[in-house]
Amino acid sequence: MAKERLDKVLANMGYGSRKDVRKIVKAGEVTVNGIVAKDFSMHVDPENDVIEVDGEVLEYKKYIYVMLNKPQGVISATEDDYDETVVDILPDEYKIFRPAPVGRLDKDTEGLLILTNDGELNHLLLSPKRHVPKRYYAKIDGIVTQDDVEKFKEGVVLDDGYKTMPGELFILKSDEISEIELVIYEGKFHQVKRMFESVGKKVIYLKRIEMGPLKLDESLELGESRELTKEEVELLYNAVKK
Ligand code: URA
Repeated sequence: MAKERLDKVLANMGYGSRKDVRKIVKAGEVTVNGIVAKDFSMHVDPENDVIEVDGEVLEYKKYIYVMLNKPQGVISATEDDYDETVVDILPDEYKIFRPAPVGRLDKDTEGLLILTNDGELNHLLLSPKRHVPKRYYAKIDGIVTQDDVEKFKEGVVLDDGYKTMPGELFILKSDEISEIELVIYEGKFHQVKRMFESVGKKVIYLKRIEMGPLKLDESLELGESRELTKEEVELLYNAVKK
C-alpha cells in the first residue's frame, strides 16, 4: 500500500479533523512502530506500520461495508439539499469512509440497503448482467390472486412499455389488503410498485428483505446499521463473480 501522511490517515480513521489530529501528534500521543511520532506530515504505510493513538492500535481498513435497515423518509443518496439521506443517518465511524448506497430504495421504502465505498462491488451488484435477486415484502391494496402470480412469472409490461423479467410472487395473504413477497432480478425505477400497477393494484407498504445472498438482519431497528462480516462480504463477491 502506498504511504500516506500520518495526519491524513488519522483523520480518515475518525480521530478528528486534520487540525485535531495534528494536536494529538504534537502532544506525543501517537506512536508509529513503537516510536513517538514527532511530525504529523511523516509518511506511513497504514496497512503495515503499527500506529497507536494513546496506546490503542489503529485498525486500518480501506473499505467499509454496511447493512442499513432503511426507515421511511430518508433518500438513497449520499447528500441532498432538502432531505435527510441514508448516509446522514449512519454513525460517524462509518461516515468517515464515505460509503455510497448500492442502488436505491424509494423514500417511502424500508429495509435492507447496503452501503459501501468499494466501488467495484457496488458496480457489480447493480450490473444488469448479474441479475442479483432482490426479495421484497409488500402490503397491497387489492386482492392478489394466482392469476397475478402467473402474470409476474411471465413478466409484465410496465407503464413505459418495458416488459420485465420473470418475477416470483408469493402470496402470504390474499384479502382486501394482501400481503406478498416478490423476488425480482433487475431494478428498474419503482419496479415493484409499477409491476403491481400493471395488474391494477397498489403497493401501500414496501420493505426489501433480501439482496443477493444477504437477508435483512432483523435485530436492526429501523434506522440502525451494522458492518457486514467478512463472510457476508465474501458471499456478496461470490454472488457477482462469473
Ligand atoms: N421497487 C419499488 O417500487 N420501490 C423500491 O424502493 C424498490 C423496488
